[in-house]
Amino acid sequence: MFKINENYLKLPGSYLFSTIGKKVAAYTAAHPEKNIIRLGIGDVTQPLAPAIIDAMHKAVDEMGVKETFHGYAPDLGYEFLRAAIAKNDYADRGCDISADEIFVSDGAKCDSGNIQEIFSLDNRIAVCDPVYPVYVDTNVMAGRTGNYNPQTEQFENVIYMPCVAENNFAPELPKETPDIIYLCFPNNPTGSTITKAQLQEWVDFANKVGAVIIYDAAYEAYISEEDVPHTIYECEGARTCAIELKSFSKNAGFTGTRLGYTVVPKDLKCKDVSLHSLWARRHGTKYNGAPYIIQRAGEAVYSDEGKVQLKAQVAYYMNNAKVIYEGLKSAGYTVSGGVNAPYIWLKTPDKMTSWEFFDYLLEKANVVGTPGSGFGPHGEGYFRLTAFGTYENTVAAVERMKAL
Ligand code: MLT
Repeated sequence: MFKINENYLKLPGSYLFSTIGKKVAAYTAAHPEKNIIRLGIGDVTQPLAPAIIDAMHKAVDEMGVKETFHGYAPDLGYEFLRAAIAKNDYADRGCDISADEIFVSDGAKCDSGNIQEIFSLDNRIAVCDPVYPVYVDTNVMAGRTGNYNPQTEQFENVIYMPCVAENNFAPELPKETPDIIYLCFPNNPTGSTITKAQLQEWVDFANKVGAVIIYDAAYEAYISEEDVPHTIYECEGARTCAIELKSFSKNAGFTGTRLGYTVVPKDLKCKDVSLHSLWARRHGTKYNGAPYIIQRAGEAVYSDEGKVQLKAQVAYYMNNAKVIYEGLKSAGYTVSGGVNAPYIWLKTPDKMTSWEFFDYLLEKANVVGTPGSGFGPHGEGYFRLTAFGTYENTVAAVERMKAL
């Protein structure tokens, strides 16, 4: 008789964004006349930039010609894309990351869920609270955590690092010693950031205690302030303790197109085994590859035209962030984030719980956001709005919220 992976049974409810999707679908079915504005999941709304579309068209044509047809992509991804990433995202920032330390994938969500596979089950993870749910959920599925405690709303055997108003939504170094530390800056969901000096402290800590940092830099393109690092490899010593995850979803609109990459430096070792070799082994076996057409589209992100077009797209979303931040602030909400990130984190009014505010906003304003408690217990009493909507919808949502 087969047996299931019982670790899955430890997970309460469905994935956060599936729960929201079901609630909104039920509300829409009951009120088909309502015009719902979705500022919940961080999904982009602007079309792919012309430079990307041109590159895709060209690659599609190549696929129809014998001489330029491409079958399976190379394990690590095409050299042309990895070289463009190494130059633009690392060398141009003074960071020492080579093209063969970059693993192209079908998105940072998959990589952030899968990377834990190369670590033993007796590693202890440390996560921010609130946190992007994929990090904890996938460790639960793997069996690296204990049971869920409904009282604390936390899993046993996980180090939760509270990110609250008192610490500007940035975690403090944990008192217990973790083996694997998940960090995400600019942060999802709070939109907070840390300075390069603060990130250096984490790198020093990880090197000192022998931990690895899994650094999610998916929102790096939204950084507007000078002292906020774009990559963990700006910090000295990061090559021996950090893996970095990057996405093309948020900076270039690839949420549906799917493309991302993970950096595993060759200096990152456990005793004398390099994590690079383990991830390469896994990539070779379990990864289907981002198609040639999509990797060519990714290359166009780094073209001169692509850079100009995507800068404008990021500016568009950041203007939305400003509209939300300033509009809600002027209406008396307590808001943060939105300066270096496309997420605005607000305190729920009138002591409503996050889910009460979700229902209230959906019913009274027909606006969808994400309840903070869905990201962890310290997210209770908070609510996330995304700047990835259209400008018109963003303005309308803020007006509706101001009128409540
Ligand atoms: C979010 O809304 O937190 C993200 O869009 C989810 C994701 O990127 O997977």
